[in-house]
Amino acid sequence: MLTLRALTADDWPRWREVRLAALADAPYAFKSRFSDWQDEGEARWRARFEIPDSYNVVALMSNRPVGLASGFPRDDGDGELRSAWVGPEARGHGVGDRLVVAVQEWAVRSARAALKLAVISGNGPAVALYQHHGFISTEELGSLLPDGVTREQVMVKALD
Ligand SMILES: CC(C)(COP(=O)(O)OP(=O)(O)OC[C@H]1O[C@@H](n2cnc3c(N)ncnc32)[C@H](O)[C@@H]1OP(=O)(O)O)[C@@H](O)C(=O)NCCC(=O)NCCS
Repeated sequence: MLTLRALTADDWPRWREVRLAALADAPYAFKSRFSDWQDEGEARWRARFEIPDSYNVVALMSNRPVGLASGFPRDDGDGELRSAWVGPEARGHGVGDRLVVAVQEWAVRSARAALKLAVISGNGPAVALYQHHGFISTEELGSLLPDGVTREQVMVKALD
């Protein structure tokens, strides 16, 4: 059975475990590198949870973590969906769907007018997931990737 659990700062070891699994599994999907995080200590892991009105959720199957996602406030007042990942063994069963819905619900609770995200171009499954939930591409310039040329693609969904 699939359950979602919102984590707090004291859950940082669990977040660390799943986030490192994501960075090791899908380096093509994230700006952060596994090597940037593997030796980081408690304070840096906890910092993520100390951002006001942030939301960090893990997906559990039979109490085993199989995915995660975050919601963060943006400077422009919208919400941002970040760090979405589902372990390879759990893909294709609606876990990504549940994580996107959970972050969208957080954004609505936080009275955000829109939810944005940045995806690395060419990440077909992720773009398909976001389009499935009504996100559309914007002209906003995403962050420059380490190759110094490519930029992330920014997508947005307006929230009622
Ligand atoms: C992208 C990712 C989160 C999808 O997770 P998932 O649990 O497999 O997705 P779901 O089973 O919930 O799929 C939901 C919908 O997304 C789309 N989708 C997901 N994976 C897809 C794929 N490989 N090809 C095409 N569409 C896909 C489909 O519309 C799907 O709906 P459907 O099954 O009714 O067709 C997962 O593949 C992943 O973690 N990839 C590596 C990390 C990553 O890319 N993260 C995104 C960073 S921006």
